[in-house]
This record gives sequence, C-alpha cells and structure tokens, in this order.
Amino acid sequence: MKIGVVIGTRPDIIKLSPLIRYLENTKAEYFMIHTGQHYSYNMDKQFFEELNLPEPKYNLGIGSKSHGEMTGTMLVGIEKILVDEKPPVVLVLGDTNTTLAGVLAASKMHIKVGHIEAGLRSYDKKMPEEVNRIVADHLSDYLFTPTSVSYGNLISEGILRDKIYISGNPIVDAIQQNLPIAEKKELILDRLKIDKKNYFLVTTHRPENVDNKNILQNIFDALKMIHSEYNYDIIFPVHPRTKSCIKNFEIVVPEFVKTIDPLGYLDFIQLQNNAKLILTDSGGIQEESCVLGVPCVTLREHTERPETIDVGSNILAGTDKDRICDAVKLMVNSENSWENPYGDGTSAKKIIQYLHKKLK
Ligand code: UD1
Ligand code: UDP
Repeated sequence: MKIGVVIGTRPDIIKLSPLIRYLENTKAEYFMIHTGQHYSYNMDKQFFEELNLPEPKYNLGIGSKSHGEMTGTMLVGIEKILVDEKPPVVLVLGDTNTTLAGVLAASKMHIKVGHIEAGLRSYDKKMPEEVNRIVADHLSDYLFTPTSVSYGNLISEGILRDKIYISGNPIVDAIQQNLPIAEKKELILDRLKIDKKNYFLVTTHRPENVDNKNILQNIFDALKMIHSEYNYDIIFPVHPRTKSCIKNFEIVVPEFVKTIDPLGYLDFIQLQNNAKLILTDSGGIQEESCVLGVPCVTLREHTERPETIDVGSNILAGTDKDRICDAVKLMVNSENSWENPYGDGTSAKKIIQYLHKKLK
C-alpha cells in the first residue's frame, strides 16, 4: 500500500513526524510531498533536522501567496505528482491551505483521502482554517478525529459513521517521543536566563489578531498590565507573519517582552513545559499546553479545541486587555490536574494500521 503524505507548514511537520517515523520504522512504501507553504529555515528545515525526518521526495516550493494563488498553485503541483505516483491513498493533516490542496487534488483523481485531525469546528467561517476543515472533512474517505467531540461534529454534519475513526491526536505521540530528548538537551531556559515556572510564554499569529493594528497593540497592552501585576518574564517567539505586522504597524515592543525568533520543537516544548502559563492563539499550543499540564489563556473568541476548555486547561479571553488580565488571574494558579483528552500517544500507529485494514 503506497501512501502519499502531504505536508507544508510547521504544525504539519511536527504533528506528522510520529507518522513519518512509524512509516520509516516499518519500512512502509510512502512518499512525502512538501508544498513549501512554510519555507524559512526556522519554520521548516530545522524541524526535519532535529526530528530526524527524511527529506520529502517532492518539494513544490510554493511559498507565500494569496489564498487563491497559493491553493491553486499547490493543486497543480500535487496533481502532477499524483498522476506519476498513483498512490491508492493520500494523507493530509489539519486545516491549512496545504491540507485543502492535498484533499482536492487527490479526491478529484478518485484517490482515497485520509484526513488527520478531522472534525474540528470553531463555527467561525471568517477563519480560513474553518473553510479548509469543512471541505477537507466532506471530501475525505477516512476521517481520523482526535476525540469524541470532533467525532460528534462530523456525525451532526451527516458524515457516515463508517468513515470516522477516533485515533487521538498525533501531537501526543510527538510530545511523548520528543520531550525526553528535549530534556537532555541544553536548557533553553539557561540560554534565555529565565527560571522554571517564573515566566509566561506568548505566541500569536492568527490573521484576525495580528493583521489588525489595534488588536495587536491591545495584546501588547495586556502584556504590560500582566507584567506589572506579576512581574514575570514574558517570552515571545515571533511567527514571521507577526514579525512583519509589528514592523509595518510600527508597534513598540516593551523591553520586558523578550521577543525571539521561532524556536525548534525541542526548545519550544521545554519552554512550554516549564512556563507558569501560556497565552496564545495557536491551535497546536492549546493542545500541547493541555497535554503538558500548563494552563493556557487563548487570545480568541472561539476555539475548535473545546476539549481543552472542558477539562479546565484553557480559557477563552479574546483580545480585550481587561479580559485577558482576568483570564490570567483565573488560570495562573490552576491545579493542573486535568486529564489529557487527546489520546495515549499511539495515534500514528493506529492510523496506519487502520488504513492497512481498510485498503487490503
Ligand atoms: C498558516 C496556516 C495556519 C497555521 C499556520 C501555522 C493557512 C491558511 N494558514 O498560517 O492555519 O496556523 O500556518 O504557523 O494555511 N512566512 C515566512 N516564512 C515562512 C512562512 C511564512 O516569512 O516560512 C511569512 C510570510 O510573510 C507570509 C506569512 O508569514 O506571507 C504568512 O504565511 P502563510 O503560510 O500564508 O500563513 P500563516 O500565517 O503562516
Ligand atoms: N512551535 C515551535 N516553535 C515555536 C512556536 C511553535 O516548534 O517557536 C510549535 C508548537 O510546539 C506547535 C506548533 O509549532 O507544535 C504550532 O504551530 P503554530 O502555532 O504555528 O500553528 P497552529 O497550531 O496554530 O496551526
């Protein structure tokens, strides 16, 4: 069974790394198509290097473009490869333009598609990711949902039970495989001169937050209020989209916010694991903070990860500064005794074994 795996962004590489390792270890026949949606060294290649992943067989080198041009160019490139490779099944993950292009290209060629991280819904169609998820789910043949919540979302949209498999989220596999390696590495905390549980970690990159000057400024204003209340260090690895927005809007970053370049995964999970609290609008970081037992304040009005709210690891704060401060107050001394809802770290194996059964 030859499997085509389509990747393109930082979270795809991280979340699919356990699956790629499993395919390598079992000597499975597979090939990887990298769309090149993310291409800067610290958003792409460093993850292949440190996670010890093989180079993708194909790299389309698409780079940054408008949604239509990016997705269209990917579609053309992926289709050509699928015509040559003729895999019986293609796997995609998540909700990016890369996901959308992979699903569209394969399903139009009547190639079976497996969607990992299926069934997530924010119910906010202004998010490009929500549109990508809905299309991906409705075109896919095998839907691998992280939890029963995402399973229920698909059932309520009329997707057949037979197509859905609750596999857990391979982010748990990634954490379990990489945290012990990360802990043996030089401690990023020493490099940043910060102490365990004595800093807040911040990330933001959603267009609805960072592409709007007032909202981005509000987030920094909230950080000012939080710093004056708690006096913790604030560490902020800056996504390239956010970096250019800070520059274009001429936002002055307060000196107590340590802005740094995006980190490798090993450093970043150490930084998450030792943080007192995380403020983020990232999807993956809402999940990881929950798995690692670190409280999270989400800088959004909705989340497609409601399981994290239900277990008590996460709270929605939007981007109003007072609400963010109130949310931090509520979460900062959480007992961190919640249960991880995202599975036991065997998702990658379960997904491949399921496909073997279905396609034999
Ligand atoms: C994309 C995904 C988003 C995901 C995020 C993960 C879509 C619609 N969005 O958003 O769902 O949460 O990746 O990080 O697919 N840039 C670089 N170097 C890079 C990549 C991007 O400099 O390697 C800069 C470019 O200026 C680019 C901007 O970041 O214009 C945005 O990149 P893009 O891939 O369009 O979207 P993301 O915001 O990264
Ligand atoms: N991440 C990383 N280095 C960083 C910031 C994030 O390795 O400097 C990892 C993080 O651990 C998570 C993933 O990148 O696994 C999340 O990616 P991102 O927030 O860009 O995307 P999203 O999950 O929102 O789609």
